[in-house]
Amino acid sequence: MNGANNRSWERGLAIGAAVLAISLLYAFIRYNILRDVPYSDIPLYIFNKGLALGSTIVIGFAFLLGPLAALRPERFLLHLPLRKSLGLIGFGGAAVHGFISLILLSPAYYAKFYTESGGINTIGQFSLLFGVLALAVFTIVAISSLPSMYERLGEARWKKIQRFGYTGYTLVLLHVVVMGARGWINPDSYSYGFISITLLSALFIVLVFAARSIAYAYRGGRDNGTS
Ligand code: HEM
Repeated sequence: MNGANNRSWERGLAIGAAVLAISLLYAFIRYNILRDVPYSDIPLYIFNKGLALGSTIVIGFAFLLGPLAALRPERFLLHLPLRKSLGLIGFGGAAVHGFISLILLSPAYYAKFYTESGGINTIGQFSLLFGVLALAVFTIVAISSLPSMYERLGEARWKKIQRFGYTGYTLVLLHVVVMGARGWINPDSYSYGFISITLLSALFIVLVFAARSIAYAYRGGRDNGTS
């Protein structure tokens, strides 16, 4: 059992590292190469963008495994234990992203969040609120994943709290839609096919919810333990 647990952590970390590397490369190409963000902004500003995207994708992978196991059990059922490691790794990344964002929070980096007089505008306030609430929800879900919590809560309550994660993911969608939607109608934001990270994350989250709805319809609305 412990061996299987360790393997799911090893595989989760390998997947997390690969997703983070690709996300960082995407952020580097889109902002440093195709735009004029200076290389000196790589350590925090660009890293934070890649980390935000990578965390959103890794958390999404954890949510996707249930629907995939419902649709193709012979292929995905044995990967279900990865849900916990991927979910917690994504949560860790999202927490670091939140922390770095608060360090950077200033008109110099996020002009779109500020009024002329230096206050945080409505877009900034809503977007930050949704980010903080998403992190709060993921924290509750992560605490409920601790080994003793399943016995303490009982199966029904434990599952309910785990499903609360979808509310957290909806809040992440609102976080990126509120901050990014205005930019999505600007043709400049599509140069060389490198769409903005807010749009990319929003599309990925919508894909995860679509997969969940398809799997739900496929099971005829029944819970077979994979959702
Ligand atoms: C304390 C909580 C959070 C705060 C304060 C926060 C803050 C921010 C800020 C300031 C940005 C703008 C970054 C930029 O344009 O460079 C941002 C973007 C983003 N955030 Fe968060 N966030 C939080 C939680 C989360 C969570 C939980 C997730 C997802 C798991 C998330 C995913 C994203 C994504 C995908 C972007 C778009 C990145 C980009 O376009 O560059 N955030 N967040």
